[in-house]
Amino acid sequence: MYNLLKGKRGIIFGALNSQSIAWKVAERAHEEGAEFVLTNAPIALRMGELNELAQKTGSQVIAADATSIQDLENLVEKSMEILGGKIDFVLHSIGMSVNVRKGKHYTDPNYDFTTKGWDISAVSFHKTMNVLYNKEAMSEWGSIVALTYMAAQRVFPDYNDMADNKAYLESIARSFGYFFGRDYKVRVNTISQSPTPTTAGSGVKGFDGFIEYAEKMSPLGNATALECADYTITMFSDLTKKVTLQNLFHDGGFSNMGVSDPVMDKFE
Ligand code: NAI
Repeated sequence: MYNLLKGKRGIIFGALNSQSIAWKVAERAHEEGAEFVLTNAPIALRMGELNELAQKTGSQVIAADATSIQDLENLVEKSMEILGGKIDFVLHSIGMSVNVRKGKHYTDPNYDFTTKGWDISAVSFHKTMNVLYNKEAMSEWGSIVALTYMAAQRVFPDYNDMADNKAYLESIARSFGYFFGRDYKVRVNTISQSPTPTTAGSGVKGFDGFIEYAEKMSPLGNATALECADYTITMFSDLTKKVTLQNLFHDGGFSNMGVSDPVMDKFE
């Protein structure tokens, strides 16, 4: 390990179980010398798995529904108290489509579900940055990362309204990132990750076939959750200080492919 995050303080959203990308980020951040607070929605904490990660990484857990400004204010204030200063890095690793969960097709959603999923998956990123910005809670040269998926740019029919939520999320990173950069020298980016077998990922219809297809299309193969964590750590480290307002593809090359030999072989 390289001590890339030595002395840095963070908040990590979205570790649900050991498959979660946020879980891997927490483990890697701990190995790199960071101290952080873990947070998730109250209902996710009831399952109790997060305590295991907290113990392992010497972290405290604070419940927060990321759609509630009140919960986020409490989270940010308590985190600064616990960690003893301003925050250097934040990971937003949150996504949920109620339409997908309830089996509603993209062409005929329940719009209350659409609004709820949009609030959880996209607007929660705005709310998180609103609280961090207005409380002046981020250190200079701090780094904020949210996880996204390429359905924001290209059509993946079964990704449903999450495609629209991700497009909105990526836009928030640019728009809020401008003000964070200008006023606090904080960078804001999204990492666009390969399909990954997690609770959220596996919820997408046809996921098994799709992950196999992405694997065959990508010259380097799909990026794993642990590899995503490694990349995220570099974005939190001082080695990437001038990278901001970007959507960074971490996908083994998938996003620039037209077709690959292994995929062509299936049709010849
Ligand atoms: P996951 O299911 O382990 O994580 C999703 C998290 O969102 C859970 O911890 C859940 O409790 C949390 N969450 C849901 N509602 C919340 C709320 N109201 N407040 C706070 N937290 C809430 O799955 P995964 O895959 O680790 O997802 C993390 C991020 O990575 C998501 O943004 C997802 O869209 C993104 N991503 C996932 C990919 C995949 O194939 N798994 C591919 C590309 C991006």
